[in-house]
Amino acid sequence: MTDDQETSDSEDTTASGSATLPPHLRPPSERLQCSKSSVCSRSYFVVVMVFFHVYIINVIALLFYVHYISGQDDASPSRDAPSSDHRHQQQQQPHQQQPQEQPRTESQRPPSKSEFLRDVSLTRIEGIRVGHVQPVSLVPGKVHEMRTLSLKPLLFEIPGFLSDDECRVVMQLAQLKGLMESQLMVQDGQEDLAKELNLSPEEIFNLLDINQDGQLQLREILTHSRVRDGIWLTPENLREIYAGLKADKDGNGLLSLEEFRLLSNDAFQRFLLQRGVKRSQLVRNSRHTWLYQGKGAHQVLQDIKTRVTRLTRLPSTLVDLSEPLQVVRYEEGGHYHAHHDSGPVYPETACTHTRLAANTSTPFETSCRYITVLFYLNSVEGGGETAFPVADNRTYDEVSLIQNDVDLLDTRRNCDKSNLRVKPTKGTAVFWYNYLSDGKGWVGEQDEYALHGGCVVTHGTKWVANKWINIDPDYQRQARFQHLVSRQPEEEEDDEGLTLKSDIQSANIHQDL
Ligand code: OGA
Ligand code: CA
Ligand code: FE2
Repeated sequence: MTDDQETSDSEDTTASGSATLPPHLRPPSERLQCSKSSVCSRSYFVVVMVFFHVYIINVIALLFYVHYISGQDDASPSRDAPSSDHRHQQQQQPHQQQPQEQPRTESQRPPSKSEFLRDVSLTRIEGIRVGHVQPVSLVPGKVHEMRTLSLKPLLFEIPGFLSDDECRVVMQLAQLKGLMESQLMVQDGQEDLAKELNLSPEEIFNLLDINQDGQLQLREILTHSRVRDGIWLTPENLREIYAGLKADKDGNGLLSLEEFRLLSNDAFQRFLLQRGVKRSQLVRNSRHTWLYQGKGAHQVLQDIKTRVTRLTRLPSTLVDLSEPLQVVRYEEGGHYHAHHDSGPVYPETACTHTRLAANTSTPFETSCRYITVLFYLNSVEGGGETAFPVADNRTYDEVSLIQNDVDLLDTRRNCDKSNLRVKPTKGTAVFWYNYLSDGKGWVGEQDEYALHGGCVVTHGTKWVANKWINIDPDYQRQARFQHLVSRQPEEEEDDEGLTLKSDIQSANIHQDL
C-alpha cells in the first residue's frame, strides 16, 4: 500500500460530506458507517495484501521446490552411470558421426534446468608462429622446449617429454594387458538394414549422391565405403570393381542412376567380400589397448597424466576425467588413414563422456576430444610419420582432398603430399587442439585442419600412445557431468539438507573446472 493510496482513501471519505466533524462527534449511524467504511476498507486491504503476498511466496516456494527436485533427479547417479574408464570406446572413424543406437528409454528424464555459472576459462597455449620455441616447466629441475609446428591446427612438439624408461614401461604394460585389433574386419548385415527400410535403388542413389548432381562420382563411393564398413578403396580399386561388375557402361568413371539400377543390392560389398579384404585395405591397421591412469595405476602412468596437465595448463579435473591412455602398435605395413580424432559440433551432437549425464537422447555421438597428446614410444626405422595433410593450408577445401587420382587422406600412398609430417622419435610428444576456441574461454567449432593420420610403417614396428582430453563444447553438460561424478557416495542417500551440500559442491566444481 502506498502513501498515495492512503491519501485518496481519506479524500473519498471527505467527499461523503461529514468530514468536517471528528469521527467521535458524528451521529452514531453516520459514525458507525463512517468508521466502518474507513477502518474496514483499510484493514480489508491490508488483509488482502497479506494473503496475496503469502500466496505469491507460496507459489515461488513451490516453484523452487519443483525446480530443485527435478535438478536432484537429473543429478542422482544411476546404478549404471558411466565410469571415467572408456576402455571399450570405439575409435572415431574418419568423417563419421556415430549414430546412437539405443532409443530413448523411460528412465531417461528431460534435461535439468539447473544452470551452472561459468567461471572458468580454458587456457589455450599461444603458437606465436611456426618454429617458435618456448620453454616449458613440466618436471622439477628440468626445462623442456616446446616448438610450434603449425598454427592451423595449433600444434606443438616437445622432444624428451618421456624418458626412455617411461617409454619402455608403457610399452611393457600395454603388452602385459594385451592389444586388440583397432579395427574389426567388415561386418555383414548391412544389406538387412536396406531391406528392412525397404529402400528403392533411387532412394539409395540419392543418399549416396552427396552433391546431388544425379551422378555418383568416385569420391562419393570411396567416402561412403570408408565410413560404412571402414574399407579403404583407392580410385583404382573402384575402377576394378566397376570393370568386374560391368557397372560403368559408358566408361566415364561416373555412375548414373540407370547404371546404378542395374547393380544388385550391395553388389560392391559382395564383390569385395568375395575377393577378400586385406588388413592393409582398412582405414586403420594397428592394435591398441587402454591403460587406466588414476589412483593405484603404475606410477609412470600417473606421472604422465600429471605432466600432461602441466603441459596443457588445463584444470586437473578435466584431465583426470578424460579417457585412459591409449597405446597403439603398428606392425610393418601398418597405417592409419587421415581422420579427425573427434567429430564436428552440431546442436544434436552429444559427447560420449557426458552422454549419460546429459540426460538427452540424440542421434549423434562423438568423443569430444578437445586436445590430442600423442607420444612416440619408439623411433621407427622407416615410415610411420604422423601426417597433417592440410596443416596451415590457406583455405580448407574438403572437395579437393580427394581428387580423381590423388587422395590426400590416403596415408599409404600420399603422405609425401601432406603439408606436414612428424617423424616418430622416442620420447617426443606432439599435441594439438582438435577444436577452436569459442572466443569466450570455452570449446568452439571443430578445427578441420586438425586432420591427421599415421603413414605406413615401411621398416620395423611403431609404438605410440594417445592421451585425449575430453571436454564437452556445451559447458552446461560438462559441468553437470563433473557434478555427477564428483558426488560422494554417502550423500546419494541423503534427502535432507541436499540443497546446501549440492550448492557447496557445485561451487567447488566450478573452481575445479
Ligand atoms: C591416432 C593417430 C597417428 C600416428 O591414433 O588417432 O592419429 O602417427 N595416430 O600413429
Ligand atoms: Ca554426385
Ligand atoms: Fe588420430
